[in-house]
Amino acid sequence: MLNILKKLRKSSDTFGLDIGTSAVKAVQIKSGSVTGMASVGLPADTIADGSIRDTQAVADAIKEAVVKAGIGGLEAAIAVCGRELIIKKVQIPEVPARDVHDVVMLEAEHHIPFAIDEVFIDHHTLGRSSGQMDVILVAVKKSKVNEYMAVVDQAGFNPLIVDVDGFALGNQWELNFPSEAREAVALIDIGAAIMKTNVVRGGATIFARDIPFGGNNYTQAIAQRLNISFQQAEDAKLGKDVGVKWETLVPPLEAISRELSLEVQRTFDYFASTAESERIGKIVLAGGCAQLPGLNEYLASNWGIPVELARPFERIEVAPAYAEEAAAMAPALAVAVGLGLRRSGDKEQSK
Ligand SMILES: Nc1ncnc2c1ncn2[C@@H]1O[C@H](COP(=O)(O)OP(=O)(O)OP(=O)(O)O)[C@@H](O)[C@H]1O
Ligand SMILES: [Mg+2]
Repeated sequence: MLNILKKLRKSSDTFGLDIGTSAVKAVQIKSGSVTGMASVGLPADTIADGSIRDTQAVADAIKEAVVKAGIGGLEAAIAVCGRELIIKKVQIPEVPARDVHDVVMLEAEHHIPFAIDEVFIDHHTLGRSSGQMDVILVAVKKSKVNEYMAVVDQAGFNPLIVDVDGFALGNQWELNFPSEAREAVALIDIGAAIMKTNVVRGGATIFARDIPFGGNNYTQAIAQRLNISFQQAEDAKLGKDVGVKWETLVPPLEAISRELSLEVQRTFDYFASTAESERIGKIVLAGGCAQLPGLNEYLASNWGIPVELARPFERIEVAPAYAEEAAAMAPALAVAVGLGLRRSGDKEQSK
């Protein structure tokens, strides 16, 4: 868990606000039950490459999502992802807990391609052995955090917690499947534009990586191949009747799934180079793209390990009012659920 912003005030009715490339999703969870949930789509190019191009449109979508969800609170837990985020496992000499932060700050300079005063830094300790400590270092551009906070503020809400998509994914996984904490599991959220990977074991992140790849790659390939607009291609991909036969989509879909599998392979190779002889037991797919028909079977046959769809509501009660949406788009709501579970101060409490 992460809170890039260390605010001390405690809040009990924070809601999760997932500002994604294709939609804004708001989820409020109180005492293990969903008490508000809604998703509002964003027009194409409102957010591109993870950067907000039209702040007013995003602010309006946030307001609309919160109203639609029936959420009363003002305090939001949001997350960032993508290129301006660096997550790395680093080794530092063993030092007392109170000194870890200072040592991590010094070490960070060697691992971050940005000036140290341009980033917020956070960390969590994985373990200590023979005079060394393994630490997960998280650095995110301040400008990115400020951009996302500003749009929440513009919508009239208070961005009390700023997390990372991948960690929010881990947060809901831990709550929903605590008994599976022993084997390394690759949680992969494939959104419209960014694929976030968080490899967890024993309740902790041991590796994380974001890459620019997602559902838009499929949509663009369809649009190009069939010479139709992005919107038509998107509708066709979602099985809406726009006069495009599903068979004609198969070649571009297959081509992009092959690319996606290669991207997953690169991520796993990179993981293998950082973690000695660690084996990934299974993949859990989240994000809207996880629902692409056949994708999980395809990845499972490529990888020879089980590939499941995320079930963010496994241990969370869902009132009938939200049941349909929760069932229809569960994998796409995983990050929002993970954020909805966050409370200010919980990082400090969990130590
Ligand atoms: N049933 C489905 N079949 C195929 N693709 C789907 C389906 N449902 C949603 N998608 C795709 O999932 C993507 C949206 O997923 P999601 O809501 O997780 O993304 P996001 O959070 O907006 O984006 P990001 O996290 O990348 O910023 C879109 O590309 C959409 O076309
Ligand atoms: Mg997303």
